[in-house]
Amino acid sequence: MTDKEYYDFVHPYRDAMQMLLTRLDVLNHSLYKTSYSEPIHNIQDRIKSKLSLEEKLERKGKTPSVMNAKDYLKDIAGIRVICYFVSDIYNLIDNLKMQSDLIIVQERDYIANPKENGYRSYHVIVGVPVYCLDGMEYFPVEVQFRTMSMDFWASMEHRVSYKKEVENREQMREELKDYAQQLMEIERRFEGFSEKGQLKTQNDSERFGQRNKV
Ligand code: GTP
Ligand code: MG
Repeated sequence: MTDKEYYDFVHPYRDAMQMLLTRLDVLNHSLYKTSYSEPIHNIQDRIKSKLSLEEKLERKGKTPSVMNAKDYLKDIAGIRVICYFVSDIYNLIDNLKMQSDLIIVQERDYIANPKENGYRSYHVIVGVPVYCLDGMEYFPVEVQFRTMSMDFWASMEHRVSYKKEVENREQMREELKDYAQQLMEIERRFEGFSEKGQLKTQNDSERFGQRNKV
């Protein structure tokens, strides 16, 4: 696919992502009113690059065309929502589902059912309506909800598993699983503080107020 084809193709995905980011921002502020603190620590977003879009299609055995990208890829637009607590994640998802113009295309709860390697996150593919001159169309946006500890683990795992030749891969796998377990335990302990209302402080993202790019 040419650069022009790519940029024209991703345009509505970008619009859909922008709309969902705004919805999440609004939810973050409105849930703040019902709780002691905002549920979201930070949000990252990205549009899949032309190269990784083409590589992914090739991995799937498809010709890297715009048509195939539309038919086979649901993560062209991606948002990562990093929360404080697991309860914040379920609360946000419940509220997002109440927005009747959005459709839920796919849901994977790797929090209730972690992956074999220890990966935890809640993945939702949301269909977002985009209106243009020739009507309305839903565009998929992949949203990954994580707590800070889940994000820490996933980022580190991604980083260290990237290397193809690792000695003692099996040992590394076991260690990573163990870290996931320990992080989950730490997260639970923080939840204990939260229930007692001991974390009633201004959060960091409020002070820094930035949105990080993936
Ligand atoms: P992809 O082909 O990668 O899109 O996987 P999938 O279609 O089976 O979807 P899944 O929901 O399992 O994973 C989608 C995304 O979640 C990945 O692109 C990663 O960003 C993240 N993810 C899933 N599994 C892992 C994992 O084991 N480790 C890390 N670090 N990230 C993961
Ligand atoms: Mg995916």
